[in-house]
Amino acid sequence: MTFETLLVEIEEGIATITLNRPDVLNALNSQVFNELAEAAENLSVDDSVRAVIITGGDKIFAAGADIKEMVLLGAVDVATGLRPSKIAFERLENMPKPVIAAINGYALGGGCELTLAADVRIAADNAQFGLPEIKLGILPGGGGTQRLPRLIGAGKAKELIFSGDLINAEEALRVGLVNKVVPPDQVLAEARKMAEKFVSRGAVALSLAKTCINEGQRMDLEIGLEYEHKCFSLLFATEDQKEGMKAFVEKRKPNFQGK
Ligand code: CAA
Repeated sequence: MTFETLLVEIEEGIATITLNRPDVLNALNSQVFNELAEAAENLSVDDSVRAVIITGGDKIFAAGADIKEMVLLGAVDVATGLRPSKIAFERLENMPKPVIAAINGYALGGGCELTLAADVRIAADNAQFGLPEIKLGILPGGGGTQRLPRLIGAGKAKELIFSGDLINAEEALRVGLVNKVVPPDQVLAEARKMAEKFVSRGAVALSLAKTCINEGQRMDLEIGLEYEHKCFSLLFATEDQKEGMKAFVEKRKPNFQGK
């Protein structure tokens, strides 16, 4: 898989997507979004890939959408355009496998929003998060007003979005924006460790659990619980369910095949 603005490596079932526009702090232009969407689509259907890590490398995650590209746009361009960021983030969010964001340095604007489309966020202790769009006269248009309050609650999300202020990794951990904070040189290793743990579990169960959680956020509780029950029932038709329970009874580790 070859791209101009991304590097994609696959090693032992784990794909790592690295944003690769270092000269502009990985600013996300429409080419990045289009390539991210294509990578997500390809990796979704690649059975050899069981988990995905997305990173910006060891210095910065991403400084947001490309302001130099947006400065020329009018309302009609934005309203009628293809919305590549929406397509990219939704494809990442809906991948039937776990997606982990590994974050060093700044994750701002669309960069922060990209991490919100991942399932889990691992941050360096030097990471900084924020949605500074308000300072540009716009609002977070890559899902920030929707995914952030669902993750950390409306009050804290409004404070971040209305002020445009940045928060450090410790605060991001405290408010639930990130799952774990580690030293900068351990971010990728920690993300990989977590990915390996996810990969060792039953892939079908994990994928359906992800669907239940993602879809459940669009449903009221009663319908969500019914949806969960359907997915739960379906898993009793899998070899992994037979293997997982048999292994428990036989006091051994399960050998899941993702079937
Ligand atoms: N878009 C385009 N170029 C950017 C960029 C961005 N979002 N962020 C940084 N760059 C470019 C700079 O213009 C600069 O390029 P030149 O050398 O050609 O001038 C280069 O990257 C290095 O940046 P700085 O010199 O500014 O680096 P710094 O270390 O002094 O500051 C920073 C780092 C605080 C992250 C600062 O670059 C900054 O504030 N960037 C913009 C952050 C921002 O407002 N993000 C939100 C974007 S809007 C958005 O994301 C919309 C959405 O909801 C989808």
